[in-house]
Amino acid sequence: MLLDGKNAIVTGAGRGIGRAIAEAFAEQGCNIAALARSQGEIDETIESVWRLGRGGVAVSCDVARADSVIQAFREAEEKLGTIDILVNNAGLACFKPFAELSLADWEETMAVNLTGTFLCTQAVLPGMMKRRSGKIINISSVSGLKPIAEQSAYCAAKHGVNGLTKALALELQPHGIGVHAICPGGVVTRLSEEAMPERDKSGWMLPEDIAHTALFLATQHPRATTDIIHIRRFDSSPL
Ligand SMILES: NC(=O)c1ccc[n+]([C@@H]2O[C@H](COP(=O)([O-])OP(=O)(O)OC[C@H]3O[C@@H](n4cnc5c(N)ncnc54)[C@H](OP(=O)(O)O)[C@@H]3O)[C@@H](O)[C@H]2O)c1
Repeated sequence: MLLDGKNAIVTGAGRGIGRAIAEAFAEQGCNIAALARSQGEIDETIESVWRLGRGGVAVSCDVARADSVIQAFREAEEKLGTIDILVNNAGLACFKPFAELSLADWEETMAVNLTGTFLCTQAVLPGMMKRRSGKIINISSVSGLKPIAEQSAYCAAKHGVNGLTKALALELQPHGIGVHAICPGGVVTRLSEEAMPERDKSGWMLPEDIAHTALFLATQHPRATTDIIHIRRFDSSPL
């Protein structure tokens, strides 16, 4: 198995893309700490991890709050041991015309998508730096690569995630730590259903497609690295 005996923290692992990543990693032998706010959903993810024969723990966490992140990462490390892989997947989307965007919309979008990535990465880094190994996979978006109307806050946050990814990939190279981002187009999940209820989603990607890409990044041979992957539905346009 490709991730035999490894330990991963996956944020936003209660449903959608995060749950698919947790299950895909567990299928390859990885133990999982599933983090999110909805306890029932992360419990279900971990039951699925246990059914696959791996260790797992569901830890309630709000990635936008430093105290919650510090406590959750401490608990995950106590239960699983040292963390080899962090997947910063927790995110939300607030799509509306810029003129209608409130300060609260802006701040929440930044707090979860961008500050959450910052806080979780800072929490996992000391251990990875000490061991001189680790992988950090950020789930960004195509909105981090190109402008999309009525997604200004989300675009700003995901462009921020990509900037953070590239700067950290360079800074952490001497420490043996890889930092990567996946930028998906539309994926059928609760997030896309709530943010774009009017869009026909036939032909859109499924969470498993993104999980497959995350597995590639988590298992790539250490002599090679991949910075940012744009993954899109087959009949959409390349950038
Ligand atoms: N679906 C798409 O079309 C699409 C496309 C490109 C990129 N993405 C990105 O993919 C990632 C996953 O999205 P998804 O589509 O799978 O959405 P989803 O089904 O709504 O799942 C989002 C997950 O994030 C968690 N989350 C949200 N706010 C959180 C917080 N403050 N602290 C901790 N966890 C939090 C949610 O759990 P709780 O609410 O219980 O905390 C849930 O587990 C996001 O970063 C999103 O921006 C999605």
